[in-house]
Amino acid sequence: MLPHLILTGLVGYVAAASLQTRATQDSTCPCGYLDSNGNVWRESSVSDFTAGTPTSVLQQAFAVETWGVQGTYQYRQNSADNVYNLNGALGMRTQGWSGSGPVYTSEVQSHRDDILYGTFRITAEIPTTPGVCFGFFTFYSNTQEADIEFLSADTNAAHTVHYTNQPGQTAGATETVTLGPNLQTSFNEHRIDWLPDVVNYYLNGGQTGSISIQVPDTPSFVLANVWSNGDPGWTQGPPTADAVATIQNIKLYFNSTSLSESDFNSACATAGRPASCQI
Ligand SMILES: *[C@@H]1O[C@H](CO)[C@@H](O)[C@H](O)[C@H]1NC(C)=O
Repeated sequence: MLPHLILTGLVGYVAAASLQTRATQDSTCPCGYLDSNGNVWRESSVSDFTAGTPTSVLQQAFAVETWGVQGTYQYRQNSADNVYNLNGALGMRTQGWSGSGPVYTSEVQSHRDDILYGTFRITAEIPTTPGVCFGFFTFYSNTQEADIEFLSADTNAAHTVHYTNQPGQTAGATETVTLGPNLQTSFNEHRIDWLPDVVNYYLNGGQTGSISIQVPDTPSFVLANVWSNGDPGWTQGPPTADAVATIQNIKLYFNSTSLSESDFNSACATAGRPASCQI
């Protein structure tokens, strides 16, 4: 969610990280991944925080952000301390705010900046302390962004999600949906399927949203964050105690501008054309 001007300074770093990520891709699926809608995706980046030291698992695929920005209400400062090992999963938090100074928040951003369409899945418990936004989203710029967002100050926050193809001010670009499970006390899989003509949103494999305007079309990052800037019209807060998301896994299956269809097909053929792995 960093303004794009700042992102451009990171391009060299991101490109190097992308190569490293691709080299560790799952070689047992040389013909890609087949999702339940029949879409094939060439690449994957699966971070299972329950299968190792969560912060070490994270580093394979994501960078921990440390930028800060002055908001209209409060200064928002991302801090590496707020991305941490928590009960065998990954904790991300906004720290309880004392009433003055920066609000210490958290954000992680995929090393991959070249993702163009895919299915992106996060299994998490959402924050309970009012006054933060917990987001999981694709991002290139403020007009190239598909979001899942939870606002802990929402009425019925344990059951409410906001789906948006940014900018959210456009009529029809956002949907607020009431979900069945208590999202604060149980782990649930929240999912974005970014396709060329539509972004579909899911809970635990069942479709819960669909937005077909302002569909992003630019190679992007995938991010997660827990943040507050005190804006009474959105995050509210800042929270007076830690507001924590607990994340078990983040699974990205996608196409990118770095692995062409023909290179993918050649690798699949060389491997003897095994079936795509089902996801
Ligand atoms: C993703 O890649 C697969 C395999 O190359 C291709 O069949 C599919 O059309 C691509 N999907 C999109 C949305 O570009």
